Amino acid sequence: MWLQLSLTTTKEQAPLVEALFENMGALSTTLVDAGDEPILEPGLGETPLWQATTITALFEGERDPNELRSLIHQSLNADCSRQLKIAPLKDQPWERAWLADFHPMLFGERLWVCPAGQRPEAANATILELDPGLAFGTGTHPTTALCLRWLDSIDLKNQTVIDFGCGSGILAIAALLLGARQAIATDHDPQALQATLDNARKNQVESRLEIKAPNQLPAIQADILLANILAGTLVQLEPLLTSLVTPGGRIILSGILVEQADEVSQTFSSHFKMQPPITQGEWAALEGTRASSRLLVP
Ligand SMILES: C[S@@+](CC[C@H](N)C(=O)[O-])C[C@H]1O[C@@H](n2cnc3c(N)ncnc32)[C@H](O)[C@@H]1O
Repeated sequence: MWLQLSLTTTKEQAPLVEALFENMGALSTTLVDAGDEPILEPGLGETPLWQATTITALFEGERDPNELRSLIHQSLNADCSRQLKIAPLKDQPWERAWLADFHPMLFGERLWVCPAGQRPEAANATILELDPGLAFGTGTHPTTALCLRWLDSIDLKNQTVIDFGCGSGILAIAALLLGARQAIATDHDPQALQATLDNARKNQVESRLEIKAPNQLPAIQADILLANILAGTLVQLEPLLTSLVTPGGRIILSGILVEQADEVSQTFSSHFKMQPPITQGEWAALEGTRASSRLLVP
């Protein structure tokens, strides 16, 4: 048994409450959004909080809830501590608990993303083994799913692929499993590069995958570049992303809200013939083919 405390407070008070819980002997603290304020992609090294933030802390089950409650009342103002909830929490095999929400998922016709030890009952399946980790990219998010379905729909034989903003490496690994010859994965977050290496090894594609920080990318141009980042970053990175695609090659841009698709498409249309967006819910992905040679304007 554990004791679970949770308290919802403001962005400004949240660090204070977290420090208080830690000083009281919390074994862990978790901060989550108490409203509906998605933070899609914080800058590198930034951990922004939400206007209303819930801090949840776990304590040993033997702790006296009344003692914890009164410590909190003494340390925080009444308004804040009134929100306090304390409840016992049963121990369970936590490393298995998340599996309840993560099952094999099919993208397109043959590509499956499966947690370790789970396999679909499907003939001719291409299996990408992946457990959720610290880096973004399991396939549950529409921005990743749009790219995975696109990869499944094309012939990747002999293609070279760049996964720009690789997170878990899911897109590069999927491309290799689906037949791409070689891939390069890059991300400005070192944790993502490590996750990509681990996942590549699990899927036995590491010999065909180069993993590089963006400033160490080799001077190559790929047949396909996938970038699931965010609209603003894609627009900023347009010259670099364009330079990494071979003439006649394709670019797939994701992480774009439907209402941002036009702006992103416009930005890339000076070098790419852009297709209409493909969408899933509020998210859009764009495909473009790089002009083989400079277009001559009459
Ligand atoms: C939304 S995740 C996508 C992860 C994975 N490719 C997928 O499709 O699920 C975006 C990734 O891009 C990385 N990223 C964001 N801005 C970047 C930049 N300017 N250069 C390189 N990587 C960047 C982030 O660190 C993050 O891992």
